Amino acid sequence: ALGELELLSQVDSTNNAAATAIKEGRDKGYSCLAEQQTAGRGRRGREWKSPFGRNIYISQVWRFQGGASALEGLSLSVGLAVVRALGKFGVTDLGLKWPNDVLHNNKKISGILLEMQGDPAGICQVVVGVGVNVDMSLSDMSDVLQPWTDLVSAVGIVDRNAIVAELMSALHVVYKEFSASGFLAHKEEWSQYDVFAGRAVRVQLGEHYIEGVMKCVDQSGGLVLVTADGEQVFNGGEVSLRSV
Ligand code: BTN
Repeated sequence: ALGELELLSQVDSTNNAAATAIKEGRDKGYSCLAEQQTAGRGRRGREWKSPFGRNIYISQVWRFQGGASALEGLSLSVGLAVVRALGKFGVTDLGLKWPNDVLHNNKKISGILLEMQGDPAGICQVVVGVGVNVDMSLSDMSDVLQPWTDLVSAVGIVDRNAIVAELMSALHVVYKEFSASGFLAHKEEWSQYDVFAGRAVRVQLGEHYIEGVMKCVDQSGGLVLVTADGEQVFNGGEVSLRSV
């Protein structure tokens, strides 16, 4: 069947459920929502706090034909989908931190984890995982070092089902737009939310750091950094970003 919607009370990671769906050939239009993750994953091997019943954990499988290189900007586009959805609930002061952290007043409110499978030159499946902090408690987050917030702190009580509905709708639209025109469809709108543009930043590339001023994102979603040695472009998979 097309468009499986897997609803789980508990799972290790919704991204794993999506990977299993790919392996079993039931990934067309697949989405998974869970109330709790026991091994929620963040970027670069970090943990994603996933307590029961108060947040949103969703993964979808997006298919693309030919050319994984064209997928470079995809994680930025997914961030924009989250911003569009949260904007519907009156959340102002939303920002995007390259490549794809969603911030509210500079504190992280949502995170995105993309995991790619398949043949980069042929049919390619991308697991698109989104976590939205809706109602986190201090005890859930006691050992989280990054500044964080949640929707309840941002706008008060919200209906999780309403957010899921807007999020799924926004993801669907962004998937269509990206399939048609790639990141170019979203570059301008994304840039309006760019929290680091024009600011001094430090890019971490493996063990070493490169300092510069973030100029902009380019048309494939790369970070354009102005350094003492000229402009350098970075891709999301390889680096992380800090302000200095
Ligand atoms: C990050 O900012 O480091 C990415 C966080 C991504 C979290 C979501 S929650 C749903 C999906 N399942 C996971 O295990 N991770 C993503």
